[in-house]
Amino acid sequence: MIKLGKQKYAGKLIVFEGTDGAGKTTMLEKTVAYLRERYGENRIIVQKQPTDLSRKTKLFQKMMYCSRHDEINYRAVQLLTLSDRVQHNSEIIIPALKEGKIVVCDRYIYTSVANMFARGYRHEKWFFDAAKEIVRPDVTFLAYVPPELAIERIKARPDECTRHLNEPLLHNVSKEFLRLSKSEKFVKLDTSQPPETAFESVKNALTALTEGNR
Ligand SMILES: Nc1ncnc2c1ncn2[C@@H]1O[C@H](COP(=O)(O)OP(=O)(O)OP(=O)(O)O)[C@@H](O)[C@H]1O
Ligand SMILES: [Mg+2]
Repeated sequence: MIKLGKQKYAGKLIVFEGTDGAGKTTMLEKTVAYLRERYGENRIIVQKQPTDLSRKTKLFQKMMYCSRHDEINYRAVQLLTLSDRVQHNSEIIIPALKEGKIVVCDRYIYTSVANMFARGYRHEKWFFDAAKEIVRPDVTFLAYVPPELAIERIKARPDECTRHLNEPLLHNVSKEFLRLSKSEKFVKLDTSQPPETAFESVKNALTALTEGNR
């Protein structure tokens, strides 16, 4: 298992991971509606990683929208997004957990890990040293569809036509997420099923997590 910080706070941290187009946001939105209904608006905090701290940089934008990837130092991208994740933990996630909130996050550090491995960076000690600053989620859901279906879904979205889509990379990332799902004990969701069906697995895991905690 990857060494992350201990989640020793009163709240709960729930994260959604998966490749682009796998159905993370769809599952997250259903989860947030369900939790708000059960625990009230104020108890639930919705977050997204990477945050604008790294998203709005030229480097990140270049990676997302430009095909000239030979100019990109991928370790620089990893440093950037890891810095963002560490700061986001310190500034937002840990304080909310201390207050007993339920934090729901769209993507987390496993996105960095899956992408790094998929690009062949397998021995990044510096990365895993810094990752100890990041709290381990109480539950990580992996939205999983076969990569071909994820690509089909991405291409069907009108707002995504300008995005740089590296299909072989997405296949590799998908494989790495599947591997991580075993070693890191993710709850795998079959998001090739209709959202309502996939959400049943979320509900079961949430009940187990929050039982006696209302
Ligand atoms: N379970 C599902 N069944 C059918 N279609 C789905 C399902 N979940 C999501 N979709 C569709 O697939 C597309 C991608 O879903 P979504 O935006 O939730 O994925 P994502 O993982 O958040 O993607 P991104 O990484 O790009 O943010 C959307 O058009 C959505 O309507
Ligand atoms: Mg999304």
